[in-house]
Amino acid sequence: MKPTYEAISWQDDHLVILDQTQLPLREIYSDVNTIGQVWEAIKKLKIRGAPAIGIAAAYGIYLGVKDLESRNFTSFSVEIDRWIEYLESSRPTAVNLSWAMKRIKQTIFANKDKDLDKIKEIILDTAKTIHAEDKRTCKKIGEIGSKLVKNGAKILTHCNTGALATGAYGTAFSVILHAHDDNKEINVWVDETRPLLQGARLTAWELQKTEIPFKLITDSAAGALMNTGQVDMVIVGADRVAANGDTANKIGTYSLAVLANENDIPFYVALPLSSFDLNIESGVKIKIEERDAEEITQFGTTPITPKKTDAYNPAFDVTPHKYITGFITENGIIKPDFKKNISSLFD
Ligand code: MRU
Repeated sequence: MKPTYEAISWQDDHLVILDQTQLPLREIYSDVNTIGQVWEAIKKLKIRGAPAIGIAAAYGIYLGVKDLESRNFTSFSVEIDRWIEYLESSRPTAVNLSWAMKRIKQTIFANKDKDLDKIKEIILDTAKTIHAEDKRTCKKIGEIGSKLVKNGAKILTHCNTGALATGAYGTAFSVILHAHDDNKEINVWVDETRPLLQGARLTAWELQKTEIPFKLITDSAAGALMNTGQVDMVIVGADRVAANGDTANKIGTYSLAVLANENDIPFYVALPLSSFDLNIESGVKIKIEERDAEEITQFGTTPITPKKTDAYNPAFDVTPHKYITGFITENGIIKPDFKKNISSLFD
């Protein structure tokens, strides 16, 4: 069943987003008309998930330049660079944002001899193409990944990797969705994903919408479930994968990978090729976003700690490639040797 909701859509001359900070209690669609609003929506996680951030940023560049009156290509491209830097400052870890920015920039330079109005049109078309490609890519990831799922499988997933985090279908979520559509009897364990509860709020919402059986667990229950034979596979998404396969994803992913390894449970990462960063050799060099302490010291807006409690809140962690069974991509399943097999994906 293809999800009927869309996290992001382009309508006439602006973006419409499903505000993910309000889910699951309220389904609020908001208009996004300016690049400043795109930056804010990404920063505040109204739009979130690596591929969705890239798609939104691509539209954001168009919103930034559509009314710009530059005299020539040189001053226009200076403005583009300024906007790219601005959007990249919103969230550092997901590589899809800078991947989309690079693609926009390459297209602009390939068309530098055209008049500026035409180039603006081309920017919008490129954003629409990135969006449409991501929908096709995520479908393919689901179709390929479904083959790994056995009938009766109990699958553990982390954070949110569904249509909300992508153009459509999702990544890890797409595998689950396609396995369900292929009539496999699956049960999904959804962990809460502290502190912002992408699992409890968003993945649970998406699984309910798509009528897939699931149960919510606390993050700390995962180990006990694995140790008592209640998990057959773990599938997660990724925000940035280095050339050797080290994977940055939502905080808590690393702990799940180590637990899966300890319990001989396959651990898969599902992602589009746009989430690989071959410029980074290993995970050590991946920049990890640190978010406000209040996300931990408060529950929503209610304080849950003694006054002045300090907290450290990294939003992502890096899972060393040795804990990963395979990568599920639109071009197939990548097994070790990751360094060699990832690089051959891009030949
Ligand atoms: O902080 P978030 O909610 O943007 O984190 C999202 C994740 O970590 C996802 O697992 C990842 O972006 C892959 S989404 C297909």
